[in-house]
Amino acid sequence: MDFNFGNDYDKWNQFLTNWQKSRSNKIIGNKVIKFDSINSTNTYLKNNSSSVKNGTIVIARRQETGKGQRNRKWNSDFGGLYLSIKIVLDRNEDLYPFWIVASISISICEFLSYIGLNARIKWPNDILIDNKKVAGILTENIFTENKIISIIGIGININNSLQSIYVDFPKLENEITSIQIETTNFRASDLSKLLTKLCDELELKIQSKDPFLAKEGSLLKEKWLELSRLKNKSIEFNYIETGKKLTGKIKNITKDGSLLIELASGEVNELTSGEIKLL
Ligand code: BTN
Repeated sequence: MDFNFGNDYDKWNQFLTNWQKSRSNKIIGNKVIKFDSINSTNTYLKNNSSSVKNGTIVIARRQETGKGQRNRKWNSDFGGLYLSIKIVLDRNEDLYPFWIVASISISICEFLSYIGLNARIKWPNDILIDNKKVAGILTENIFTENKIISIIGIGININNSLQSIYVDFPKLENEITSIQIETTNFRASDLSKLLTKLCDELELKIQSKDPFLAKEGSLLKEKWLELSRLKNKSIEFNYIETGKKLTGKIKNITKDGSLLIELASGEVNELTSGEIKLL
């Protein structure tokens, strides 16, 4: 696996500079800001949201205080992929932030399938291989009167060490993985393919040329339901804050990303945030 460029920052930098040229006539990826090390690529974009242009990517070889969902830490040693993308959306009804992020999850799964890995989505936006997390997405939105500035942070374990994650969270040992653990098929040229795929996907979304969105996300939704393996599955839902649990069958997912679950009584509940476990 030559993804780490022999751990050479200049080579990595050069690689990305070359890749960026392929985005010269695009919005997403037209500008790439690179760091050897940074606190968090999301935080950088949040702090500079008004000065960087739409479609800017911030990418780092390492993050000192990488952020995960629910205020968790995202361990970010050298060898992983850590990037954030700024997109600006009009606050109109045709754009659903959940589905923009969902399309990224789908793209990551499709990419993993291309390198021979069978991945699935865990609601809302985790990517798992064999039930172990390999990638996560943290979106932070800034709302203005008629725009949404969306910062989409993507973290993928490629060949970063997972050791320090185990030290912090020993019980996670069987719950996380990296591409390197799963396959030897990943090369630097694949990194370029992955970045292009993610950017092309977002490019379609922000230019609203994507028929999935025009059709209220129906095709996108079908893909998501297939990759999440959730449709008609029995699950246990944990509300976390209250500790309340529910069991039922997943019927659908809404345009806001809520799950519709049918309880044994036949009543349908809408679940917006919490954790699910397949039964
Ligand atoms: C999760 O908890 O699943 C979300 C993880 C998101 C991590 C990425 S890495 C790049 C970006 N910068 C951050 O600090 N977090 C996101």
